[in-house]
Amino acid sequence: MSSEVARACALLAGAERVVVFTGAGVSAESGVPTFRGPGGLWKTFRPEQLATPEAFARDPRLVWEWYGWRRDLVAACRPNLAHVALARWMLCRSGVTLVTQNVDDLHERGAAEAALGLLREGRLRAAGARSPDADPEACRAAARDAAAVVPPVRLHGSLFHVRCTRCGERREHRGAVDASAEATLPRCVACGGLLRPDVVWFGEPLPERALEAAFAAAAAAQACLVIGTAGAVQPAAALVDEAAGAGAAVVVVDPGETAYDGMAEVRLLGAAGEVVPAILGGSGA
Ligand code: OAD
Repeated sequence: MSSEVARACALLAGAERVVVFTGAGVSAESGVPTFRGPGGLWKTFRPEQLATPEAFARDPRLVWEWYGWRRDLVAACRPNLAHVALARWMLCRSGVTLVTQNVDDLHERGAAEAALGLLREGRLRAAGARSPDADPEACRAAARDAAAVVPPVRLHGSLFHVRCTRCGERREHRGAVDASAEATLPRCVACGGLLRPDVVWFGEPLPERALEAAFAAAAAAQACLVIGTAGAVQPAAALVDEAAGAGAAVVVVDPGETAYDGMAEVRLLGAAGEVVPAILGGSGA
């Protein structure tokens, strides 16, 4: 174990409260494109045409076509070792708040995988899952329940949720979206209004409750683990400044430069799928 990995392990294990802040890089090894690096979404697509309320008002079909493509892409991806190791660690200890900027669902699916592993090892108990091998379906259901105990705080919304542009109703939506014409776009079951992806677009405020929960966790944390974010988008990016300002030790996992390098107590220059299991897997989790 390198001395930097050992320092990160010690800082995280010694902290009673930890805030974990993730960005697109944590899902990169699953095959989800990041935004700004080589191959990043904002290198190929123009945000002002696809990710603003004005773009949606101008051409909802085009915007839905792009989000439909991203939903299909993410649905075909699997959580990687970083998602699973992080969830396993969270399921095995208390005091961790996970805050993500990502709109994919890989933290949740990684948590279900981690919970399944822990149930099989007899390290997690859940109703109906005493003998996982005898009843694999009950075990998977119990794992999903256990995983729901460690949901991420989502700052930028979710690809798999929609919001009505008329009545504001929000709900999960995982089915295929037919964006071949404006008339086939998804509609609200309550009022018939046009549905939009429940994600935060440029120029829009972040969800208030999530923002408050995230910054409260940052202010109370003794350690802040930052994984795979350049730290370029406010106000989410200020979460790490909040934690550092309140005295948290900052650990950054990223193969590239980030806005946080100057304030990091430990910088681990590597891919999340390798580094995260190395720093979190050795704690008995
Ligand atoms: P970026 O694309 O800005 O940054 C991705 C970061 O991940 C970079 O620092 C990369 O070096 C790093 N990275 C790449 N591969 C990695 C790997 N295998 N392991 C670990 N890190 C890796 O993405 P975000 O910082 O997430 O907002 O972008 C923030 C926000 O900008 C997004 O939530 C999105 C976007 O516009 C909205 O859509 C509102």
